[in-house]
Amino acid sequence: ATSQGHVSVILLGATGDLARKYLWQGLFQLYLDHASGGHSFTFHGAALTAPERGQRLMFDVLKKLSCPPDEPPDRCAVLKDQFLRLSQYHQLNTAENYTALNTEIEMLLRQEGLKEAGRIFYFSVPPFAYTDIARHINSSCRPPPGAWLRVVLEKPFGHDLESARELAAELAGFFREEEMYRVDHYLGKQAIAHILPFRDQNRQFLDPIWNRHHVERVEIVLKETVDAKGRTSFYEQYGVIRDVLQNHLTEALLFLTMELPGNVSSAGEVLQRKLQGFQSLRGLGKGSAVLGQYAAYGGQVREELQRAQGYVSTTPTFAGVLIHSDSLRWEGVPFLLTSGKALDERVGYVRVLFKNRAYCPQSGTLRDAGSSQCKAKQIIFYIGHGALNTPAVLVSRNLFKPVMPASSWKEAAFQPELHVFGQPLSDYYVYSPMRERDAYSVLISSIYHGRKDFFITTENLLASWEFWTPLLDSISHQSPRLYPGGVENQHLLDFEMVGGELAFALAEPIELLQPKAP
Ligand code: BG6
Repeated sequence: ATSQGHVSVILLGATGDLARKYLWQGLFQLYLDHASGGHSFTFHGAALTAPERGQRLMFDVLKKLSCPPDEPPDRCAVLKDQFLRLSQYHQLNTAENYTALNTEIEMLLRQEGLKEAGRIFYFSVPPFAYTDIARHINSSCRPPPGAWLRVVLEKPFGHDLESARELAAELAGFFREEEMYRVDHYLGKQAIAHILPFRDQNRQFLDPIWNRHHVERVEIVLKETVDAKGRTSFYEQYGVIRDVLQNHLTEALLFLTMELPGNVSSAGEVLQRKLQGFQSLRGLGKGSAVLGQYAAYGGQVREELQRAQGYVSTTPTFAGVLIHSDSLRWEGVPFLLTSGKALDERVGYVRVLFKNRAYCPQSGTLRDAGSSQCKAKQIIFYIGHGALNTPAVLVSRNLFKPVMPASSWKEAAFQPELHVFGQPLSDYYVYSPMRERDAYSVLISSIYHGRKDFFITTENLLASWEFWTPLLDSISHQSPRLYPGGVENQHLLDFEMVGGELAFALAEPIELLQPKAP
């Protein structure tokens, strides 16, 4: 039975890096989750590669798909066979290729007597290819009236406000806003996706303390051990602010700072609050950011991009940015966004640190700094990796016992003597997901269900670029400081204000890169 109608998924860039690492696995998970219950699928991998070779490359990937731990192995093996049978490769290059794909989809639906529910086109291709593909889909691959079209787009969505506007305007010529699903995969990370529900479900505790009177500072951090080797042609154009801060970390920032809408799962209401949140952010100046570059980066750029020996790259691979919101709620609270490559550990988290002398909601009293019951108080949305190696939500025990949805989060058992953020784990209530899910699986499932709250609308995107572009312009000639890769860089997070400007204690030895040779 196919009461839900048939869905064709077309993955463009089917043999590329992202597809190999995450997207096929995410599609397989979608199939595992919906193989019964009247759902019906076909999966079309597409690329520019000629059919035989493309087919071979794609099936090499599909054969290696793994079964998730919570899936009975027998069922999974059967469904994997079926998934492979439902998948086929297409060379998509010319207009005729697109028309042929459309004909094939229509024929299959007719032969099998299936009703079409919709088509998902996943663009896992570089953005310069977007316009051509969009034009072809719009002119020859739209489903018939009554069935939906969803196109999924991967970043980078432009380079600054102007280029983002241009790209958005171009795409708007082919697709309606509701048809576009712009991916920020951090919105699919379980800890990030839970920030708004957490704020909503814990209003009774958070209402009095989620503000400038009680929050000392907030850190939004993505530290990576990998460097940019092998990716410098991309990285050299973008750098860490465009790669990670403008999107992933900014989304987390907005989830924290925005006023809660009445309904936190309404995409429209969340968007409105988010846009208001952007309006409250204070403009960034040159003094708001500290930039670094790991020492080996310049050599990698010269080698990979075949630049002259004298070429000096000033692209930042590390950035710490101090952000303020001028809303009544947050005025004066420092929000510190930090990310870097080639650091000492891989970890991501959002950490809300409360003031020492803070209200203790459970006892209803104010306590003195240093009092044992009211020592450090923090709420941490732990994205993953690092010491815990799982997504988690941590709440200091002397703050409150949070309300967590029992169907999706469980109290986690870790070694209590493990220390995170300066305290033993036993000082926190710790929750981890009942079922750990990769961000891309979460997103692919949302696309299938037409849930837009995990995606970046055009307005959201442009608001973010509007916020970041002045800073990017002002630092475009600024020299980052060199830091050695891989070393203990914990104190990258220690910052202070020096003469009104932000200063991070970057790892020694620090030398300033010489400005780019003309
Ligand atoms: C991507 C960036 O968007 O996010 C990469 O382009 C970065 O540079 C990655 O490494 C981090 O994502 P994750 O899921 O590995 O934390």
